[in-house]
Amino acid sequence: MILLKTYVIDNLEINCVQMEPDDLYQIIICKNEITKETPLKLFIPPSDAYISKILNGYGRTLGLLHSNKLIAVASVVFPKTGKHNLGNYLAFDDLLLNQVAQFEHGFVLSNYRGHGLLKILLAEQLKYIETKYSFFLSTVSPYNIPSLKSGFGIGQVIKSHIYYHGFERYVLYKKISNKCSFINAIKCNTIDKLDFYLSKGYVAVYSFQDACYLMILEEESYETI
Ligand SMILES: CC(C)(COP(=O)(O)OP(=O)(O)OC[C@H]1O[C@@H](n2cnc3c(N)ncnc32)[C@H](O)[C@@H]1OP(=O)(O)O)[C@@H](O)C(=O)NCCC(=O)NCCS
Repeated sequence: MILLKTYVIDNLEINCVQMEPDDLYQIIICKNEITKETPLKLFIPPSDAYISKILNGYGRTLGLLHSNKLIAVASVVFPKTGKHNLGNYLAFDDLLLNQVAQFEHGFVLSNYRGHGLLKILLAEQLKYIETKYSFFLSTVSPYNIPSLKSGFGIGQVIKSHIYYHGFERYVLYKKISNKCSFINAIKCNTIDKLDFYLSKGYVAVYSFQDACYLMILEEESYETI
């Protein structure tokens, strides 16, 4: 694990770490403890294989340690155009699906609840996500109030109400910004401007809901952030 920062929260000294493949066993122990006491209606536990997949590059897992004991975990994944992407529930096209970071699971040992630790982990994940992705999505049970409040606490809103693996869930969503998703792209908010740049050899690669187009030179390589 890699130490990211140290917090003092209600007199507890807590280290925030980015977890690595070698940390799998510690996460499983923590997850099993939570699973024993939490109904599926509120929390569908991730399989050990899925936790491992995330640690091995499919996503990013952060943990909180108190006195070297793992007390809280939160993972995000970057599912691109996979079926699993919650953006599919929001009718995202492929371009938007590629810009989704998705909260997969989070838990806090019961002795350490009441300090807003999930919100702290989500906020820490968000700092990373903001530099690379445009949307932060989650599913949360309507009955999981601490989880819902943690999402609201980092600026997510309820966007949809669905059944997910047979369980009632909200899709929470945070649009990170309208900022340019393409290197060297030019923003055009009128069709006149779009015409001007088309005549200069640009193409429009993207249009936001507010009819703002992103223009790039056709031959220029670009990448999503
Ligand atoms: C969800 C979970 C991670 C939250 O733990 P936490 O970060 O310690 O959350 P807290 O206890 O600090 O509660 C967060 C907020 O919810 C509020 N809250 C907690 N229980 C509440 C309840 N029953 N009714 C109303 N509000 C409640 C807290 O007052 C706090 O509000 P604030 O942000 O205004 O201060 C933890 O409950 C858990 O591990 N649950 C089992 C696994 C799970 O459900 N994971 C989420 C889905 S992936």
